[in-house]
Amino acid sequence: MKANQQRIEEHIELLSRFTATPGEGVTRLTYSPEDLQARNYIKEKMASYGLNVSEDGFGNIFGKLDGALANAPSVIVGSHFDSVPNGGAYDGTAGVVVGLEVAALFQEHKLKPTYPLEIIAMVEEEGSRFGGGLMGSRGMMGLLTEEDFNKLADKDGILATDAMTDIQLDPSKDKLRHPVTIKAFLELHIEQGPILEEKGIQVGVVEAIVGLSQLEVTVQGQAGHAGTTPMDRRADALVSAAQIIADLPLIALNEGDGTVITTGRLHVFPNGANVIPDKVVFTVDIRSGKEAHVQNAIRQVEALVRARDSGGISTSTEQLLYIAPKALDEKVRSSLKQASDALTIPYCSINSGAGHDAMVFSDFTACGMIFIPSKNGLSHCPEEWSDAGHLANGTDILFEVAKQLTEAQSL
Ligand code: GLV
Ligand code: MN
Ligand code: MN
Repeated sequence: MKANQQRIEEHIELLSRFTATPGEGVTRLTYSPEDLQARNYIKEKMASYGLNVSEDGFGNIFGKLDGALANAPSVIVGSHFDSVPNGGAYDGTAGVVVGLEVAALFQEHKLKPTYPLEIIAMVEEEGSRFGGGLMGSRGMMGLLTEEDFNKLADKDGILATDAMTDIQLDPSKDKLRHPVTIKAFLELHIEQGPILEEKGIQVGVVEAIVGLSQLEVTVQGQAGHAGTTPMDRRADALVSAAQIIADLPLIALNEGDGTVITTGRLHVFPNGANVIPDKVVFTVDIRSGKEAHVQNAIRQVEALVRARDSGGISTSTEQLLYIAPKALDEKVRSSLKQASDALTIPYCSINSGAGHDAMVFSDFTACGMIFIPSKNGLSHCPEEWSDAGHLANGTDILFEVAKQLTEAQSL
């Protein structure tokens, strides 16, 4: 019995409907009404596959199939179910759906594992609502303190804790997951780049994930009338911000080795067509496979920002996220390759330029990831698409490895 491609397609299609931007891609922000709709769908499916469903104090969803061994650590399979604004139907969701399908296969094969199998659907991997990213996994593993979580607010000033209670989630529930309760973590994700499609290979076994940092820069100037303030008497925050942003690509290019820098979010205040902007807040996302490049680039960006501090302009930079590049577990990688071979599914090794929850878990447990091709290499946009046949084959690989890991005493 193999993964059911039709069931996978149906999950993807139904979950894609839980979007705040119908017809313009998937916008499913953490703790939004669309989060609640997707959450209810995922919980219902988990229950129908015989899993015990629970949620933690961040709203991460767990569906557990108990193991024969009492108090044994779980093999966790899954991904995140939040999205970027106007994103696609596959980023994160594909891994959650594959997790559901792995659970369905355990049920259909009537498997009673020795170690528990847990399917996970995590919140706020993208950081699209509360900033930074990887929040669900960082929170679970104790890398985001309760105090810091309680301070998190979205761009409208809505606290994460209030947004949770708005969708009947309980922030006072247990938040921490002790590493001894996790045996391994497996995630399928779409590649989000062009390599697998170009090579014509349908599975990438991930060797390592890039290091990344997200900075938030604030440029403060002086508001004024757009018609009456002479050009030489302005402290225009947007002009200064634009000059900083225009110099970022050069920092990435000079650093080299595939280092990339992006400003993807920018807020202008007060954002009136005839008002000189007095404040601009923007993000700087820095990534590289080599940690030294990430660190050098951070220092250079900070210096570039500080250099604007004059003539009525003042700046500040806050680091919202820093995570070093991570290699994934060698034994799990080789189990994934062996399973692909046994299923005669061609694979290659690949590195990830995107961040993933696996990079958080990899400091605490054995992690493995596989990628499947993304059409035209596109992701974080409505055109994002992957073949359900590839998802089904990826599910078969994860099912095999999850079966082994829930039986074997060691990895
Ligand atoms: C998540 O998609 C990330 O790489 O930021
Ligand atoms: Mn993403
Ligand atoms: Mn993702």
